[in-house]
Amino acid sequence: MNAAIRGVTRVADSKNLQVLGFERGWDGLITNTFKRLTPRNVGGIIQWGGTILHTLRCPAFEKTEGVEQAAENLKLNNIDGLIVIGGDGSFRGALDLSRESDALMIGVPATIDNDVFGTDETIGFDTAVNTAVTSIDKIRDTAISHERIFIVEVMGRKRGFLALEVGLSVGAEVILIPENVCKTSEVVKTIKENSRRGKKAGIIVAAEGVGDIGKTAREIESKTGSEVRVSILGYAQRGGSPTARSRLLASLFAEKAVNLFCEKQGNKLVGLQQGAIGSIDLRETCEKRKPLDLRLLDLAETLAT
Ligand code: F6P
Repeated sequence: MNAAIRGVTRVADSKNLQVLGFERGWDGLITNTFKRLTPRNVGGIIQWGGTILHTLRCPAFEKTEGVEQAAENLKLNNIDGLIVIGGDGSFRGALDLSRESDALMIGVPATIDNDVFGTDETIGFDTAVNTAVTSIDKIRDTAISHERIFIVEVMGRKRGFLALEVGLSVGAEVILIPENVCKTSEVVKTIKENSRRGKKAGIIVAAEGVGDIGKTAREIESKTGSEVRVSILGYAQRGGSPTARSRLLASLFAEKAVNLFCEKQGNKLVGLQQGAIGSIDLRETCEKRKPLDLRLLDLAETLAT
């Protein structure tokens, strides 16, 4: 997200536009807390995780009065456009605000979940994938040495984008995602089959959205006789220095967002669409569910023999 903040500030500055950075997300808009962003004060942040503006869940913005207050502050500060960096909740907020304000709303997708309709990839996704892959590669060393099965839980909210990409990249024996609920008996079958073929260790990558992996672990252990351990990667996936790919995507999205503003195109979401930077309607993003390519699950299975 810092790479996007830097990108927006510097592209805007090159077009003689002024940028205000509202702090703590929607909360800053409601309380009118912001700082002027300049090419200089966004220097040296491209390599930082998180966001220099901070971000909070903001219950006040879920109420009409909160949205109205935010609209008032946009007017008060003569703001012509708002670039919202975040996930689908943020974009729904932007749509609500657009009903109360004349400012142009432009969304920039940034979430490790990669679950935003209208973009093939979100800022931070690649970083989270790489963080998880690095950790799981290390876990596999124990799995192999001790002939154990590990269930590793990755984030992703209710979707399996992160788990699927991580699973494929670590050569997971099984990938569990909410979009394709797999019975524990199927997992047991795979592990027994692998064991018969001499493969005693295994990595099961599970999306957090599949539910209680502890229970799954106990069931697998009792039915296979293999030692099963659970490892939850957690918040480490959300931090750390962004990968080059995440920085690049953030920079390209930032440029597109400022260009859309200059063209007076509001209520848009910037996105990566089949390799090109494009945009779609913000409403469409909020209404549609991003499809997940389930064929990748078959590929993962083929590759994990
Ligand atoms: O949306 C990003 C995400 O990291 C999800 O993968 C995860 O479920 C959630 O945020 C965690 O949210 P919180 O920080 O509120 O616990």
